Amino acid sequence: MTTLAQGPNGSKYVFAPGTYGLRDRPVTPPLRMIIDFCTSNLPEGSQYIDVGAADGHLVSKAGSLRPFRILCVDPSRTAVEACREAIKLYGTAMDGAIQGVLTGMQLGPADAIGMWRVPHSLRDKVRHANFAAAHRTVVKGGHFFVAAKSNNDWEVDALKGLGKYKPGKVNDLGPVLGLDEEFPCRFFSEEELSQSVAEHGFKILRCGEFEDENGWERLRSRYNKYRYLWAQKI
Ligand SMILES: C[S@@+](CC[C@H](N)C(=O)[O-])C[C@H]1O[C@@H](n2cnc3c(N)ncnc32)[C@H](O)[C@@H]1O
Repeated sequence: MTTLAQGPNGSKYVFAPGTYGLRDRPVTPPLRMIIDFCTSNLPEGSQYIDVGAADGHLVSKAGSLRPFRILCVDPSRTAVEACREAIKLYGTAMDGAIQGVLTGMQLGPADAIGMWRVPHSLRDKVRHANFAAAHRTVVKGGHFFVAAKSNNDWEVDALKGLGKYKPGKVNDLGPVLGLDEEFPCRFFSEEELSQSVAEHGFKILRCGEFEDENGWERLRSRYNKYRYLWAQKI
C-alpha cells in the first residue's frame, strides 16, 4: 500500500519523496515542442510559469541557454525543494521556485504558462479556477500549455473492469493504484479538454495525445496516455 503526500488544507498531492520522479525521464515530443517554442519565441526577460512543477522536470530539460525565466510553482514543499535543486543543477540565475497555487497568488504577468499533467487531479471547480487564473496571469497573445489524462488511458479500462468508471466526472483511482486513500482523477476527451480551456477566453491552437512512462517508481513500466493542448489568450 502507498500513501500520498499530505498537502496544505488536508488535500492530497501526488508528489512524495522517493515515490515519484520525472526529472530523469526522456523529454516527450509535446514537452520538446513547448521548450522549442518558448526558447525561440519568448523575448528576453519574459517569464514562463510552470504550474505544478513537481521535481522541476521542465526547468531541468529547458537548458540554461535561454533568454526567459522559469518560475516553478507547486503547493508541495517537497516539490519546491526539488525544483530549487533542479534550478541549481540545470537552470539559470533568473529562475525561481515558489510554494503555492496559481489561484492564490498574483504571479503575473507571464508570457507563457504550463500546467502539465496537473488538471486531471483537480476537482472541476478548482480546475476551472486555475484556467481562469491562467487567463488573468498570461499576457494578451501569450500561450497556455496544458496536459491532462486522456480517456484512452489504461486506468479507464481498469476502472471499467471494477465497474467504477464515471465518464466526465472525477473518479477515485485509489482501488486501481492500490492506494489506501482516495486519488481523484478526471479523464478528458479532446473536446472536453478543449472546451474547458476555451471557455476561459483561450483560442485552441493544437490538441493531441501522447504517451509517457508513469511518474511513480513502482508503475514505471506502465505508460499513461495524456491529452496535450496548446492555447493562446485572445
Ligand atoms: C503529476 S505532477 C506533474 C509534474 C510536472 N508538471 C510534469 O508533468 O513533469 C503533479 C504536480 O501538481 C501539483 N499540484 C497538485 N495540486 C495543484 C494545484 N492546485 N496547483 C498547482 N499544482 C498542483 C502536485 O504537487 C504535483 O507536484
